[in-house]
Amino acid sequence: MPKRVLINEVVTRDGFQSEPDFVPTETKVELINALAGLGLNKIEVTSFVSPRAVPNLSDAAEVVQAIRKDTPTRYVALVPNQKGCARALELGVDEINLVMSVSESHNLANMRMTCDQSLQQFQDIAEMASGTPMRLNGSLATTFGCPFEGQQSQERILRFVDAYLERGLHSLTLADTTGMAVPNQVQSLCEEVRRRWPELELTLHFHNTRGLGLANVYAALAAGVNQFDASLGGLGGCPFAPGATGNICTEDLVHMLSEMGLDTGVDLDGLLLQSQRLEEIVNHDLPGQVRKAGKRSDTRPLPQSVKELMQNGRS
Ligand code: COA
Ligand code: ZN
Repeated sequence: MPKRVLINEVVTRDGFQSEPDFVPTETKVELINALAGLGLNKIEVTSFVSPRAVPNLSDAAEVVQAIRKDTPTRYVALVPNQKGCARALELGVDEINLVMSVSESHNLANMRMTCDQSLQQFQDIAEMASGTPMRLNGSLATTFGCPFEGQQSQERILRFVDAYLERGLHSLTLADTTGMAVPNQVQSLCEEVRRRWPELELTLHFHNTRGLGLANVYAALAAGVNQFDASLGGLGGCPFAPGATGNICTEDLVHMLSEMGLDTGVDLDGLLLQSQRLEEIVNHDLPGQVRKAGKRSDTRPLPQSVKELMQNGRS
């Protein structure tokens, strides 16, 4: 298992994109600025997508312009096409996250493009970005199952990984968009990807839709994966995938990893504070569990009745 694990925060993108109410730009900026000081590897701050497709992120340019820039955290924006790449280059982000789905039907629902059309866009984007400092990450949505088509073949997944790498992308994310992954499937795919491309920077992106999120993290760790996306409070979901719910929760993930003795470099208390604040922002309950239960190390006071039993020599 890796000793050091990198955490990428996606709440302001994956989280806010499906909220029923628009989160004010200033609130988004405040949250990103607070998260940027907590030791996260990356923050996916927003999406450069059609404002009609995702109205909640229609303030992407304003957000990117306003956030603090004096932090080691890498800022990422999700980009589906050349127009998004042009906006990212103009406004300046450290990395763009190119997204397509492994399944044809989900790519059509989400991006209104066939997989081949997405790959063509990525070819053009790689040319646009070449010679600039902006890094390119490629994400494969529905890797572990599609809400319309079910399981995807490993051969198809690996073909798309290859297609991304042929276009010179710097890193790869395998995404479980609707929480269909199970741990043995995760472990065997991650082992195969790492066997074929041992140098590849690989991230896993899980949703906890069926309660398997952290079990899948454990399976990916066992295959040597050391980078995960997660969302504060467990907020998240894809507006173009029926039944999609929240990502794995950042503070629950950091809590699990640190209790396992792995180093994330992330300030867990700082995350818990921001998660509390997030609940006020979205004004509904969040699925994250550690904030409700307390950390494993937070012991409770002994009940008086038990103290009395101890004093009476019953222990
Ligand atoms: N940023 C901003 N606006 C964009 C854009 C981008 N990257 N790409 C397209 N647009 C605008 C176009 O200018 C056009 O605007 P207009 O109608 O005012 O002229 C409109 O969006 C439609 O453009 P078109 O090229 O015909 O796109 P489309 O309707 O076929 O949709 C996508 C394709 C990819 C732009 C759209 O499906 C999309 O943004 N999907 C993102 C979905 C998403 O974020 N899902 C969740 C994350 S995985
Ligand atoms: Zn997601």
